Amino acid sequence: MSKYIVDDPRKVTTHRLIEMKAKGEKIAMLTAYDYTMASIIDAAGVDAILVGDSASNVMAGNVTTLPITLDQMIYHAKSVVRAVKRAIVVVDMPFGTYQVNADEAVKNAIRIMKESHADALKLEGGEEILPSVRKILDAGIPIMGHLGLMPQSINKFGTYTVRARDEEEANKLINDAKLLQEAGCFAIVLEKIPATLAKRVSENLDIPIIGIGAGADVDGQILVCADMLGMTGGFSPRFLRRYANLNDVICDAVGNYVGDVKSKNFPNEKEQY
Ligand code: KIV
Repeated sequence: MSKYIVDDPRKVTTHRLIEMKAKGEKIAMLTAYDYTMASIIDAAGVDAILVGDSASNVMAGNVTTLPITLDQMIYHAKSVVRAVKRAIVVVDMPFGTYQVNADEAVKNAIRIMKESHADALKLEGGEEILPSVRKILDAGIPIMGHLGLMPQSINKFGTYTVRARDEEEANKLINDAKLLQEAGCFAIVLEKIPATLAKRVSENLDIPIIGIGAGADVDGQILVCADMLGMTGGFSPRFLRRYANLNDVICDAVGNYVGDVKSKNFPNEKEQY
């Protein structure tokens, strides 16, 4: 049982995350895409849950996050929201739903909020998407930014390697982070960038910086739930710590079940009517 279950049962808000940064309390965030997993990780004490567009890879088996649709993200978001009592639920706006123009972005953002009842949205990008960010914020929808490695831009980057190693890209990232804070974003995810750069951004901003492959000197961490639980065997980036090996646990359980069925050991007399 997690020792964080009853620490503070109040629903986490965007304000509370900003207060946590001010107090130096680290933010623990994980992804979830379905009701069952969201119930478990909420009860175990995560502060924030991301209905990530990584559902495209983890749930649907796509190679990238690009194919997942608005309808599919809303389906996942609704399932997660139904389960969660305490954590703030943030939903990724999928590729193509906020890049065309600000009017289309706000229309899609409102649809996600209205249909899923989530608490906030996450968008990838800085200066380029600022008009969409401003318009969505003007509609009263909280936004978490996402800079560094942005999986929706994988076809532009051409690789999932560490971003912002050179000065020009690092300076752009710092500027983008400031612009997102000034616009009114309540937090920013920094993915796969040098730890020294992430530390600099965190020290210079008042809003929480949530890192994934961005080192320890940020205000919180996020991992993809299936990765940290050891369900996705072939994916082993340096930043990933596995807290369980569910792949082996599930394989053993299923192997035992198959064996019991074949040997007529399941069901037994007590397991029938
Ligand atoms: O979609 C996702 O899971 C994400 C996290 C990796 C931050 O954006």
